[in-house]
Amino acid sequence: MSFRDDVLAGLGARPRAIPARWFYDRTGSELFELITELPEYYPTRAETAILEAAADEVAALVGPGRAVIEFGSGASTKTRVLLRRVRPPVYVPIDISGDFLREAARGLAGEFPGVEVVPFEADFTMAMTLPDVVADSPKLGFFPGSTIGNLEPAGAVDLLRAMRGSLGEGAMLLIGMDRVKDAGVLTAAYDDAAGVTARFNLNLLERINRELDGDLAVDAFRHLARWNAGAARIEMHLEAVRDVGFTVAGKAFGMAAGETIHTENSHKYTDDAARLLLRAGGWEPVAEWTDPDALFAVLLAEARVVRPAP
Ligand code: AVJ
Repeated sequence: MSFRDDVLAGLGARPRAIPARWFYDRTGSELFELITELPEYYPTRAETAILEAAADEVAALVGPGRAVIEFGSGASTKTRVLLRRVRPPVYVPIDISGDFLREAARGLAGEFPGVEVVPFEADFTMAMTLPDVVADSPKLGFFPGSTIGNLEPAGAVDLLRAMRGSLGEGAMLLIGMDRVKDAGVLTAAYDDAAGVTARFNLNLLERINRELDGDLAVDAFRHLARWNAGAARIEMHLEAVRDVGFTVAGKAFGMAAGETIHTENSHKYTDDAARLLLRAGGWEPVAEWTDPDALFAVLLAEARVVRPAP
């Protein structure tokens, strides 16, 4: 669905909700980069440290000659840590936003002359045919950042199965998942003292105004991050602080004070739940690593050969 369709449908639905993927226009992407450096936002630091510590073991477990396929744009420190140790013959970063993808791929290709970098513009939420160069290679999927956490468990299982379909028999998957932990630590990570996450969330309203001819009064909303213990997820909402009316793409909407637009879910997984999710998605866990404070986990899994029950 387009931004316009998602926003109009999401504002019309009850509860109101807009998919988190629409946060990432240029401003949103820049704000997210700032988030990853916040003292309260532990996931990026924890995952990078885990990958640095585990990279030799990962390289030994996956063996030589596997093509690395990254789901989501691969411009980050984490990608570099992996490529440095695994030294794949081919690296395929997959993303829906082609410009950023090609720019990032050029940078990585310069840094890793021994690795053939083949950017691939595609929507990885559906099973797809990968570029010909990797058709006959064994593959390692890489899905860092706990991006899987944006999806409800049912959607996460669908995505894992689609990845299994795209990567094929014998594939392995290296995936980052954020852990369930103290609610105070979690809410602080999504409601930082400097207000960067608030700006990130509120930027969605500005994006709607910019791109969809909206007239939302941004000061009529506040950022809300709350831990939903039952669903094991952080939810971000935009809450109306007063009764507010607005139009988007020529359609009129109204919200009463206290009503919210749900803008993101970030699911957290216990060690058991993480393994169960992978198995439900057709991936058998083979190893896992965590940081000293068990804030975050990186799991390695292999495509399960599906056999009928014993
Ligand atoms: C990029 C989806 C992993 O859920 O932690 C960070 C996005 N939202 N702060 C996350 C995010 C608010 C992030 N993911």
